Amino acid sequence: MKFITVDFDKKYNRERFSCSHDSLNNYLKRQATKESKAGLAKVYLLVNTSNEVIGYYSLSSSELPKDCIPDVMLKKLPKGYTGYPAILLGRLAVTKNETGKGLGGELLVDAIHRCVIHSLSIGTCVIMIDPIDESATKFYEKFMFKRLPDSDRMLLHIDFNLRSHFGLE
Ligand SMILES: CC(C)(COP(=O)(O)OP(=O)(O)OC[C@H]1O[C@@H](n2cnc3c(N)ncnc32)[C@H](O)[C@@H]1OP(=O)(O)O)[C@@H](O)C(=O)NCCC(=O)NCCS
Repeated sequence: MKFITVDFDKKYNRERFSCSHDSLNNYLKRQATKESKAGLAKVYLLVNTSNEVIGYYSLSSSELPKDCIPDVMLKKLPKGYTGYPAILLGRLAVTKNETGKGLGGELLVDAIHRCVIHSLSIGTCVIMIDPIDESATKFYEKFMFKRLPDSDRMLLHIDFNLRSHFGLE
């Protein structure tokens, strides 16, 4: 079965969505409509055959301040910038009944793929996330996100290797 996410739309049923973090449930049910309309975040949904939302993530334009970037990555970037164009993966969650089936991983890869495609038309060099807890950090580590020194924030550099992974080089 092909894994497909769809644009946020109120026609999809969000009421039964329940992951282990209330803030992520509330965002989907109460904030996602407003944020989508205002252009603050683009929310993508994974829905089942009954049109119920079983997973989602959100993406927004952002900037990564230069001071936060580890030297190893900074070396690969041109100098003279105070910050670098980034995409914030603001939220990502799978409803409890559907966890452990690979959907969270597929959602994350779908989000990364969208970011890489975006970077082909609008300068963007990094995907960042602020994991909600230590367990989420471990999940993102599985997908090559690196934790910044002195911060909980994690990064994935959009580089030649990542573009190649998606056949975009
Ligand atoms: C974190 C979450 C998205 C994972 O979703 P999931 O559908 O259970 O994940 P998957 O089944 O796709 O797992 C993919 C891989 O990550 C691993 N994994 C999943 N959750 C993990 C966790 N909490 N810690 C470490 N590894 C984890 C799986 O073992 C699997 O590894 P494998 O491929 O080697 O077997 C889901 O549990 C969730 O929504 N949690 C609550 C919200 C949250 O924490 N969101 C992220 C923070 S913003």
